Amino acid sequence: MDMADVLVTGAAGFIGFHLSRALLERGDRVIGYDNINDYYGTDLKYARLEILKGYDGFSFHRANLEDGPALDKVFRENSFDKVCHLGAQAGVRYSIQNPSAYVDSNLVGFLNVLESCRNNGVKDLVYASSSSVYGGNEKIPFSVEDNVDRPVSLYAATKKSNELMAHVYSHLFGINTTGLRFFTVYGPYGRPDMAYFSFTKAILAGETIKVFNHGDMKRDFTYIDDIVSGIISSIDRPFRYEIFNLGNNRPENLEHFISVIEEELSMKAVKEYLPMQPGDVPVTYADIDRSREKLGYQPVTSLEDGIGKFIKWYREHYDIA
Ligand SMILES: NC(=O)c1ccc[n+]([C@@H]2O[C@H](COP(=O)([O-])OP(=O)(O)OC[C@H]3O[C@@H](n4cnc5c(N)ncnc54)[C@H](O)[C@@H]3O)[C@@H](O)[C@H]2O)c1
Repeated sequence: MDMADVLVTGAAGFIGFHLSRALLERGDRVIGYDNINDYYGTDLKYARLEILKGYDGFSFHRANLEDGPALDKVFRENSFDKVCHLGAQAGVRYSIQNPSAYVDSNLVGFLNVLESCRNNGVKDLVYASSSSVYGGNEKIPFSVEDNVDRPVSLYAATKKSNELMAHVYSHLFGINTTGLRFFTVYGPYGRPDMAYFSFTKAILAGETIKVFNHGDMKRDFTYIDDIVSGIISSIDRPFRYEIFNLGNNRPENLEHFISVIEEELSMKAVKEYLPMQPGDVPVTYADIDRSREKLGYQPVTSLEDGIGKFIKWYREHYDIA
């Protein structure tokens, strides 16, 4: 594989950081783009960027995705072989409080990425979708063949819209687009708004954790390194138009997931059981047959190993004995 110039949007984010580092490690040049917004503490975003800045092949632009001219300038001043678009307003619950953030970043921002690809002759785009597009899908595991026309959060609706918009640009302008439906990604340098992170923080502080749907939930937790392998395969193998699930193919009970954190911390959680949150779904479970077949995707990290790695990082990063 020749060295490539890759635009990574959301490079200061959790997945964007890990992807950028892996691409730099194999000798690609990475041009990062991110507005470093404060949806969660920016200290973690700066810490990730500090690591990326240690690589000669990394450069960075701080700007909004919804600023079309700023984004297009970065396209004009570089010549990207590939674009990996991970910048977005993430989070299901926050989309109930602040819907317009999702329209700005995920719809206007996505259109701007497509337009810049179109206007600057970029042929290969990989972008983040989400398992949340499956909504309350009752058929498990979730297959990319399933109908996903019934989202239950605005976040999910924007991600499904991205898949539709990508289809149009693939059809009209011959841009190769691959959408990746990520399933609950976790790991070092992860997102503080996600349960594994906030639970770890709360348990260490002796604070109560909120267990929704009375603990009766299942998530297909997928370790960051497995996700990065799947993204890199997608970057290296362009398709005219594809959607893939990137999950672990192994849903875990919320209660079991908490017990794994407790075990790794050697501490017990204080739990408060609460009803289901609006916009949430009871289960996620990825069918990854197609991803295996067409991408060679194969997750290898168990929940125990992955949570162990996360907690090791957490203790080091926050200096907790
Ligand atoms: N982490 C998961 O479990 C998960 C699951 C499904 C889908 N995803 C998707 O994967 C992608 C990456 O997620 P993540 O977990 O790394 O989230 P993240 O919030 O850590 O990273 C997203 C980055 O995008 C940047 N960003 C957001 N809006 C922007 C805008 N308008 N202009 C410029 N930059 C902007 C943020 O500053 C952030 O650094 C997102 O598209 C997300 O929706 C993540």
